[in-house]
Amino acid sequence: MFVYEKKLQYPVRIANPNPKLAAFIISQYGGPDGELGASLRYLSQRYTMPYPELKALLTDIGVEELGHLEMVGTIVHQLTRNMTEQEVKDAGYEAYFVDHTAGVYPTAASGFPWNAASMAVKGDLIADLTEDLAAEQKARVTYDNILRLSDDPDVNDVIKFLRAREIVHFQRFGEGLRLAKEKMDQKNLYFVNPSFDQ
Ligand SMILES: [Fe+2]
Repeated sequence: MFVYEKKLQYPVRIANPNPKLAAFIISQYGGPDGELGASLRYLSQRYTMPYPELKALLTDIGVEELGHLEMVGTIVHQLTRNMTEQEVKDAGYEAYFVDHTAGVYPTAASGFPWNAASMAVKGDLIADLTEDLAAEQKARVTYDNILRLSDDPDVNDVIKFLRAREIVHFQRFGEGLRLAKEKMDQKNLYFVNPSFDQ
């Protein structure tokens, strides 16, 4: 347990620009279950995590998610570089284009800009680790939805790698939650928080 191997990067080489795909893949850059929120969630939660193994787990996964943020940004960039005005129109990319041209901006596919309200740092290890399990599952579902909509193998190779990592994170956080409960007083139904309630 807790031999955690980070896999930060996977090469992104997309042959065919396609702003239509970029319009929804951007959600994993700045959407509610995207890599920016994931990274900030874990790198912020780690301060009050009372056990060193769990602090390290949050640090490792938080750093890995930053690498994933770069990969998603690269996908969006490669799908939208050298677009023509006609391609913007044909792809239905006008709304994003008007606000950001071909820039990579942290927003949800629905157009809502990235917001810290989409993540949580409670300072209670059971609440935070349970939140993290849900966050990983939501990220995995988002990647599943992207795979349902995208038929570009260059894109899908990378998305499948990212999806697989979310499953690994879900499993590691599951182990982390189990470890946390073992270390706490299991006779206390409410699992008081050792980082605050002494
Ligand atoms: Fe993740």
